[in-house]
Amino acid sequence: TGSLVSLPEHAVEQPENTMVGRENEFEMMLDQLARGGRELEVVSIVGMGGIGKTTLATKLYSDPYIMSRFDIRAKATVSQEYCVRNVLLGLLSLTSDEPDDQLADRLQKHLKGRRYLVVIDDIWSTEAWDDIKLCFPDCINGSRILLTTRNVEVAEYASSGKPPHHMRLMNFDESWNLLHKMIFDKEGSYSPEFENIGKQIALKCGGLPLAITVIAGLLSKIGQRLDEWQRIAENVSLVVSTDPEAQCMRVLALSYHHLPSHLKPCFLYFAIFAEDEEIYVNKLVELWAVEGFLNEEEGKSIEEVATTCINELIDRSLIFIHNFSFRGRIESCGMHDVTRELYLREARNM
Ligand SMILES: Nc1ncnc2c1ncn2[C@@H]1O[C@H](COP(=O)(O)OP(=O)(O)OP(=O)(O)O)[C@@H](O)[C@H]1O
Ligand SMILES: [Mg+2]
Repeated sequence: TGSLVSLPEHAVEQPENTMVGRENEFEMMLDQLARGGRELEVVSIVGMGGIGKTTLATKLYSDPYIMSRFDIRAKATVSQEYCVRNVLLGLLSLTSDEPDDQLADRLQKHLKGRRYLVVIDDIWSTEAWDDIKLCFPDCINGSRILLTTRNVEVAEYASSGKPPHHMRLMNFDESWNLLHKMIFDKEGSYSPEFENIGKQIALKCGGLPLAITVIAGLLSKIGQRLDEWQRIAENVSLVVSTDPEAQCMRVLALSYHHLPSHLKPCFLYFAIFAEDEEIYVNKLVELWAVEGFLNEEEGKSIEEVATTCINELIDRSLIFIHNFSFRGRIESCGMHDVTRELYLREARNM
């Protein structure tokens, strides 16, 4: 049998020191976890696939100040093939053939009376949260649960205390720092031409760290060949979405596969708009209606049905809001470039 990661024997665990940027987000989350009320709080981080939720959560989890604030820490990844048992085993860090209810009971007893920090990474549904939340006693001692999810609805459902933290895409400086660290800080010196193309590439990754890491992997394999770099710079989204290891593809495709079937065609339709195009909701609703994507619902206008679909896609971090109208309605929305390229191909295969 194993035990939860108890301090202090694991206090020497190597923290993940590779996170670039995000200082403000880190400080803010640290504050929510380590300070504040004594009631148990569920804090969540939400954002699209590959934006860096796990990276931030891991960095928080292994931060020395955080370590010093909690008696006990545990971490588990839920992911798409959700199974309460695996989460329990993950949190208890053991393998066992005890039945689920005994595991749950054991976890509760472990946590009881201690100030704990639990990280639940990558949770996809409110049902999953309902299943596992029962294991976390509130002993009014400042314990915290940190969740990451792509789904706003799940984040809002589970959070207590402050609203979920919406992770933002990286800005140019962060993107460039990350690429720099992964390529130029490594061995070998590069001439300024490479740095110039590198900057173009960093920009074209659209602030998605996953895309940057995929490209960096590719560039380091290619080595110092200007023509190849140039070719990549001209087709960043395409290159990222067709990377032979398909890392980005796999990550981003998960969100799509999780969509209820009525939303799939609606979502794929976004890919037909040009890159960077601001997509107006009015126009979209018309097009969806013509295509027959919208199921009629009693007592609802076709616009209302469409608005619900749009909100569901936004909640799942698949599309983002571009602009609001002066009445506070969503006026236009957009899709991340890398995502677009990927789904364009999916749409062609339909
Ligand atoms: N701030 C950062 N500094 C350095 N690398 C980062 C940063 N953020 C993300 N990355 C890298 O980008 C990739 C994707 O990040 P991560 O796995 O944290 O995303 P995620 O939001 O958890 O995605 P998913 O929704 O698929 O779980 C990883 O390879 C990670 O190392
Ligand atoms: Mg993750």
